[in-house]
Amino acid sequence: MNRMLITGGAGFIGSNFVHHVINNTDYHVTVLDALTYAGNKASIESVLGDRAVFVHGNIGDSELVDRLMSGTDVIVHFAAESHNDNSLNNPRPFVDTNIVGTFTLIESARRHGKRFHHISTDEVYGDLELNDPNRFTESTPYNPSSPYSSTKASSDLLVRAWVRSFGLQATLSNCSNNYGPFQHIEKFIPRQITNVLSGIRPKIYGTGNNVRDWIHADDHSSAVLKIVERGEIGETYLIGADGEKSNLEVVQVILDAMGQPTDSFDFVEDRSGHDLRYAIDSSKLRTSLDWRPRYTNFEEGIVATITWYTENRSWWENDKRSVEETYRSRGQ
Ligand code: NAD
Ligand code: TYD
Repeated sequence: MNRMLITGGAGFIGSNFVHHVINNTDYHVTVLDALTYAGNKASIESVLGDRAVFVHGNIGDSELVDRLMSGTDVIVHFAAESHNDNSLNNPRPFVDTNIVGTFTLIESARRHGKRFHHISTDEVYGDLELNDPNRFTESTPYNPSSPYSSTKASSDLLVRAWVRSFGLQATLSNCSNNYGPFQHIEKFIPRQITNVLSGIRPKIYGTGNNVRDWIHADDHSSAVLKIVERGEIGETYLIGADGEKSNLEVVQVILDAMGQPTDSFDFVEDRSGHDLRYAIDSSKLRTSLDWRPRYTNFEEGIVATITWYTENRSWWENDKRSVEETYRSRGQ
């Protein structure tokens, strides 16, 4: 079992996972990615070669998916439309890729009897009050808020039903907010880092009191690999690294690390339906699969991420103007 098909491997978390797998295992990897606005082949160019090949295509293309499925042992499914703000403006691609695309993959995986791992988000559980002592666990009821999170919830339910009804050999994981290299600059942390690098003040939605539970993408990768290799079929594992921070705190860490006054940001229009707080209890993963995160110091992880965006301007600079124009047109 050493051939792995990775969907969405040219995106943020998928590309970090491709690097992780090539550097830490002997899997032969095939990346299937449609190269939407969020995909960038440059993120994995350095590892393409004998052990990693790239296929440009859509997870909704059942003929292509069937062909790739027959030549793989395990599928790790990252491909998705992933940005909440975009889902509020144009939900259609979220339904097509996150729901119908996942359906296409699991239909093929069950026909071919292949091991499948589904990547999802903690946003399927909705949000928590700031003072709620409870965090999300594997038994928290689904209660998604946005078109993005509701399509991810739908895909999770499809995978679970395919396990029960058809014996699909699948596991699932729901992770908290990721940060690290290769993240599209429309997302919160890289937007603010590249704002400062471009002479633009960071932009905080609403009050800035919303809380996210941050994990480095490489820790997400190590957890996924553990689940792929040792997870129990049919089980869901929550992935998180105890990294709760308010958006205000995150911007202040970034500004401080970049030598700027910590009040040099702007409050902008809030997101419609903006989830207040996400927080993950990852005890099951830690206890049953003995997983631990490596990046336990958020400030250090942010400094490394700032260094990456500073040293890799060519990776993001061409997109900066249009991303900021889109945000400006929405008052954000
Ligand atoms: P991303 O938007 O950076 O990357 C998505 C990738 O999927 C891109 O390379 C894109 O080209 C590709 N893609 C999109 N539609 C496709 C299609 N129809 N066919 C083939 N490829 C397609 O997303 P990300 O942040 O790396 O998220 C990856 C996965 O992790 C998603 O399933 C997301 O729900 C999940 N997740 C993300 C986070 C986070 O903080 N970003 C947290 C938890 C879970
Ligand atoms: P985001 O990176 O879009 O991730 P998600 O919506 O999946 O949590 O946003 C993270 C948080 O940052 C979220 O509370 C929205 C907020 N945010 C801002 O305050 N300013 C911004 O410019 C962006 C993009 C997000």
